[in-house]
Amino acid sequence: MHKPHLDQAYIYWKNLLKPDDHVIDATCGNGKDALRLVELVPQGHVYAIDIQEIALQKARELIPNSNISYLLQSHTKLLTGEFKLIVYNLGYLPGGNKNLTTLTETTVESLAKASQIISIGGALSIMCYPGHPEGALEEQAVQKWAEGLDPQKWLITHHTWREKSPTLFFILKLKK
Ligand SMILES: C[S@@+](CC[C@H](N)C(=O)[O-])C[C@H]1O[C@@H](n2cnc3c(N)ncnc32)[C@H](O)[C@@H]1O
Repeated sequence: MHKPHLDQAYIYWKNLLKPDDHVIDATCGNGKDALRLVELVPQGHVYAIDIQEIALQKARELIPNSNISYLLQSHTKLLTGEFKLIVYNLGYLPGGNKNLTTLTETTVESLAKASQIISIGGALSIMCYPGHPEGALEEQAVQKWAEGLDPQKWLITHHTWREKSPTLFFILKLKK
C-alpha cells in the first residue's frame, strides 16, 4: 500500500541529516523507521526507544547496522545532549498489542522535552493516525502543542492527504 506520510517523512530526513548526526527514534516499534535512520547517519548514532521489549527485539532482527542503541523505556524519559532529529510514529505496534499505544498526555510531555534537545537546524518528525478516534485526539493535541511554539523559533509544517490517511508534522528549530 502507498504510504505518502512515510515517503514525505523520509524525504525530509534525507535532506536534513548529515552522515555523523545523532538522532532519536522515540517510537522504534518494528524498526522500519530506525533502519532508514541508521542508513542516513552511518558515522552518527540512532537511539531507538520503545516501551515494548518485543518491538525492540524485532528491530534488532531487522537492523544489521551497529550505529544504534536500543532503550527499553518510555519516551517521556528522553536523553540528554543535542540531537538533529527526533522521530515519532504514533499509535500501536503493527501486528502487536493495540492497548500498548502511544497516549496523548505522554506524547505531548515527550514532545515538550524533545523540543529542548533538538539542535538549531534540527527537527521533530511526527506521524499521526487520525483515522481512529484516539488517534484523532492525539493528532489534535499534537497540533495544539505545535501551535503553542514560538513562530520566530520554529517552522511548522503539517501535511495531510485527501485520502484521510495518516498525517505528518515536520517541525524545524530555527533558533533557541
Ligand atoms: C506505530 S508504532 C512505531 C512504528 C515503528 N516506528 C516502525 O517503523 O515500525 C508505535 C510504537 O510506539 C511504542 N510506544 C507506545 N508508547 C510509548 C512510549 N510512551 N514511549 C516509547 N514508545 C512507546 C509502541 O510500543 C509501538 O511500538
